[in-house]
Amino acid sequence: MCGIVGYAGTSPALLVLLQGLERLEYRGYDSAGVALIENGKLYVEKKVGKIRELIRSLWGKELKATTGIGHTRWATHGEVCELNAHPHVDSKGEFAVVHNGIIENYRELKEELQRKSIEYKTQTDTETIAHLISLNYEGDLLKAVLKAIKKLKGAYAFAVITMKEPNRAVAVRYGSPLVVGIGKGENFIASDIPALLPFTKDVIPLNDGEVVDLRPDGFFIYDFEGNLLTKEIMHVPWDTLSAEKGGFKHFMLKEIFEQPRTLGDTIRGYISRSYDIPINLRDFRRVLVVACGTSYHAGLVGKYWIERYAKIPVELVYASELRYSDSPIGDGDLIIAISQSGETADTRFASFAMKEKGAMLLSIVNVIGSALDRESDYSLYTHAGPEIGVAATKTFTAQLAVLYALAVSHSEERENLMENLLKVPHLVEEVLSEAEKVKEIALKYAEFKNAIYLGRYLSYPVALEGALKLKEISYIHAEGYPAGEMKHGPIALIDERMPVIAIAPTDRVYEKILSNIEEVLARKGKVIGVGFRKDQKLKDLCQDILEVPQIEENLTPFLTIIPLQLFAYYIADYLGLDVDQPRNLAKTVTVE
Ligand code: M6R
Repeated sequence: MCGIVGYAGTSPALLVLLQGLERLEYRGYDSAGVALIENGKLYVEKKVGKIRELIRSLWGKELKATTGIGHTRWATHGEVCELNAHPHVDSKGEFAVVHNGIIENYRELKEELQRKSIEYKTQTDTETIAHLISLNYEGDLLKAVLKAIKKLKGAYAFAVITMKEPNRAVAVRYGSPLVVGIGKGENFIASDIPALLPFTKDVIPLNDGEVVDLRPDGFFIYDFEGNLLTKEIMHVPWDTLSAEKGGFKHFMLKEIFEQPRTLGDTIRGYISRSYDIPINLRDFRRVLVVACGTSYHAGLVGKYWIERYAKIPVELVYASELRYSDSPIGDGDLIIAISQSGETADTRFASFAMKEKGAMLLSIVNVIGSALDRESDYSLYTHAGPEIGVAATKTFTAQLAVLYALAVSHSEERENLMENLLKVPHLVEEVLSEAEKVKEIALKYAEFKNAIYLGRYLSYPVALEGALKLKEISYIHAEGYPAGEMKHGPIALIDERMPVIAIAPTDRVYEKILSNIEEVLARKGKVIGVGFRKDQKLKDLCQDILEVPQIEENLTPFLTIIPLQLFAYYIADYLGLDVDQPRNLAKTVTVE
């Protein structure tokens, strides 16, 4: 949450900062700002709203500064207003700070600083960092930062510049992501790699407890004690285009349509014999899958697959519920942490806590070099490329592909099972070719205020994921339920104003879900079926039908989720909502 960008070079910093911020906007977008060292003085500009508001207010200003920092905010402390927007400055207006994360002890620090007559101007925790650095400054920004961080508690990343040293920026990582970008005669920092792609593909993701001293002609990375560290440079294979819309109206739509390719990439990686899944699930007493949001839903599909093919009991836990639980986990247990970003605080902290209790940690991540990737004993990558839309789509299906490959990895039928997976990208393409039909149906339901998604067995996680997609981008209240649970309470909600989306491929629970559909129809609910083409029985029952091609039972989630992603997208777009940056959300949630 919140995006940070920083630059020390010889070109105008403002252009770099604004381009970087636009690519980080998915991390938060309630206000934005920049600080520059312009003619030896600190220049700060901030605006409520999206980056375009900031750009508008800077329009026509000829700012030549070559050092600067920028920020796009997702508010944690203090209401959304210009005053609380970042950067924040110290009382003398000499130091500017941008920050991502939370300073948990800021109240105590604030009281301590106020006793020293430091005046606070904002309601943020960040302002404390600016005051602390200023108080500790004795001619060297790095030293002042190293002293200031000794006082801070929480999980954070921040960057600071000062007019006293115009060609330098210092940034710190402790619990929130930060990546150094390496250029020629210029260096960068950013919360995430896509912000750096227009400028460089050579990066160093910082570890927690590291500080970078950034200058035009070099950079130095230290630990919190001030010891110089040697770090390896990583070359990012992603291209700039993959982080652009490529003719689609929204990133989300582009990412939905990318799935045949991304799935192909992921599957090919795991099919080649040379790729050895580094662990055998059967060596573990039990498996605990830890994740949030969409990644959790992928994990739920994975549970069914692992239990079927590896025959190991799998538990699924929301990461935010695991960290502070007394779950008896230890030696012989495997934690599978699933995260697109690899930076989600809930997932990272919960998995790491379990690792410390003795469990082995295997992560499934999209962002190589992310914190979770580095903290894990083993990582499996989803290879889906950057996902910019806040609503996860292509990374969900890529996570499914990895989980399937993992589940079958030590099964005797592995080869056949993986062969089956090869059919998926082409079939996903077939589903996408009928997007217009999905749009037609979706628009009939755009004005409804509620929706229920039902599924059983492998279609239950698909129901959860379909409902999450609809609620997060269209703000329509939607719930996913195991279809069999309906009769235990939620059926009371059904009437003619309640559309029910029933995911009903012809699988082992097909007849059961048909009965559940009948129960809904008997109460005048409207049913949209998601099922196999040529399934006349389902067609006859439902008001509308979202069709997918026939596929074996185990692989149905790969296909049935696609029309549901499109369904949510077309409704949100029709309602004129900001599909890629829905209200109140952020792509990467780095607070607990
Ligand atoms: O990066 P992660 O996979 O750890 O993110 C987890 C959730 O925050 C994420 O899936 C969220 O629910 C998305 N907005 C879903 O579309």
